[in-house]
Amino acid sequence: MSSVSDWLNRAQTSLTDSESPRADAELLLMHVLEVNRAWLYTWPEKPLTESQQDLLDTLLARRIEGHPVAHLTGVREFWSLPLRVAPSTLIPRPDTETLIEWTLDLDLPDAARAIDLGTGTGAIALAIKSEYPAWSVEAVEFNADAHALAKNNAERLELDVHVIHGSWFEHVTGHFDLIVSNPPYIDPDDHHLNEGDVRFEPASALVAEQSGLADLFHIIDHAPDYLKPDGWLLLEHGYDQAKAVCDYLRQKGFVNVQNRCDLGGNPRISGGQLPGVPE
Ligand SMILES: C[S@@+](CC[C@H](N)C(=O)[O-])C[C@H]1O[C@@H](n2cnc3c(N)ncnc32)[C@H](O)[C@@H]1O
Repeated sequence: MSSVSDWLNRAQTSLTDSESPRADAELLLMHVLEVNRAWLYTWPEKPLTESQQDLLDTLLARRIEGHPVAHLTGVREFWSLPLRVAPSTLIPRPDTETLIEWTLDLDLPDAARAIDLGTGTGAIALAIKSEYPAWSVEAVEFNADAHALAKNNAERLELDVHVIHGSWFEHVTGHFDLIVSNPPYIDPDDHHLNEGDVRFEPASALVAEQSGLADLFHIIDHAPDYLKPDGWLLLEHGYDQAKAVCDYLRQKGFVNVQNRCDLGGNPRISGGQLPGVPE
């Protein structure tokens, strides 16, 4: 019978294609044993039961095939929120937390109104609501399964976010202090689509026409009709799209256009402000 540390070491050695073999193995163990990381290191000699070992070996085999850990455990933490994930949408990425950090730096009203377009798991909208309980936060999702997933995450985490089923601004009404989005932005011919976790994520969450810019430009085109004066639009995009997105924001009348870098130092979030009402 294997112990916790036996299995951890064996799993780590067999995950040769993973960029994070130790962390992957720990997450699988934490999921199956329903314990936290500290427990694993407090009780390394604990023997695994036969059924635990069978389940762990099955999950490990799927991870070796390339399935994302988050799909195997059904959970991914974003902004310290444990979000359910599913193959219907993107697994939230740590880089997207840059967008939440930017939101925290904005000087918005105490009872601001915000909307997250293409919410997927609900990650961005739920993170914002967790930081600003007094804000009115809405979210939009086109994929029916992802829409149900976002609603489920909101209910489970008891965060009052209204999740609308529809395409971008189709069913959105009124005006917002903040519009945020991490829309699909990958060029359909990008070779990264054949690598890593994205192989197991749906094209509907990843790919956009016009070299990946079509959805970003659609949102920039329509956002001015839904922003209050001085309202902000913040958009996540690809590492090589900052110039195109910022130029387009300026062209459409946005001011204070700027961008922020992701954890790897690439300009991945761009945003701008609608001009205020002249005094
Ligand atoms: C890159 S994923 C981002 C998911 C989530 N916001 C996040 O950061 O983890 C893009 C999301 O936009 C959704 N989407 C694609 N086209 C859409 C549309 N026309 N209207 C609304 N959502 C759309 C996809 O289903 C997917 O959930």
